[in-house]
Amino acid sequence: MKRPLLYLLWMCLLAAASCSPEEERIPAAGYAQQEKPAALPEDRFLTIAHRGASAYLPEHTLPAYALAVEMGADYIELDLRMTKDGRLAVIHDNDLERIGGTRGQVSDKTMDELRNLSPGPAFNEENPELAQTSYEQLSIPELRDVLIRFGTAVNYYIELKAPPEGGGMEEAVIGELERYGITEKSGQHDLPPVILQSFSEKSLVRLHKMRPEIPLIQLYSFKENADLSTEDLKYLQSYASGIGIPAASAHAGFIEKVEGWELDVHVFTVNEEQDILRLIRMGADGVFTDRPDVAGRISSSE
Ligand code: G3P
Ligand code: CA
Repeated sequence: MKRPLLYLLWMCLLAAASCSPEEERIPAAGYAQQEKPAALPEDRFLTIAHRGASAYLPEHTLPAYALAVEMGADYIELDLRMTKDGRLAVIHDNDLERIGGTRGQVSDKTMDELRNLSPGPAFNEENPELAQTSYEQLSIPELRDVLIRFGTAVNYYIELKAPPEGGGMEEAVIGELERYGITEKSGQHDLPPVILQSFSEKSLVRLHKMRPEIPLIQLYSFKENADLSTEDLKYLQSYASGIGIPAASAHAGFIEKVEGWELDVHVFTVNEEQDILRLIRMGADGVFTDRPDVAGRISSSE
């Protein structure tokens, strides 16, 4: 009895080990109605205000976004997480300790509970030279608060954080964009009005099937020199308009290789003048930055 069972287990392990990620991938679109990913603007270096102008004001708050717009950012960047009641909270961490100063997870809270938390105290503590007691009145917004406040006057670069496997988050995001009139025709400065990004390949493939006209950015967390195989790049081309990579992993050879596949490269998170300049010269197509004023100044002088 023991031997056949062990044999079966061994065969299962062998089958799992030989299954490459590519084989698990699902086609981004049926061959019959394959839609090419949306094009991003040519020869334009994008300033993406990371969590708003978050070097100067509490991250992911309406004032941080307003300041980014005032500073001329091409995009305001939002991280979204789903709450317990299925709403879209604009917050980076699932753990509430850093931003909310409390124990617990976003995914276990309702949106109303999150609204009672303020990112102000954490910002004041970390930035004593910029601290204001009024920041303690700021709260964690919902996606719709940002869309209502800024409407079609800005461009949005939205990240889906930890989208549930079975879907739901993608539909919720698209639903909110449609509800508040963020359409392909509503962009500012000849740019797509919305770019969606995620570390989740499955989520982006799902989004591409739903709304192929929205540019999608696949995020990677390379620790050092970035690299992607030909298979990866080929698959990326079927659903994404570009990729997002950490600054420490960016190098000219990789950027050139990726752009050869007609994919843009955006780099996070870059705040120092010399680093922004280095990335522009390396051929990057944009940076996520906490200091959109600095990136805007450097890129317009290059
Ligand atoms: O979304 C790109 C960049 O923001 C990823 O880093 O951790 O700040 O969301 P993170
Ligand atoms: Ca992000």
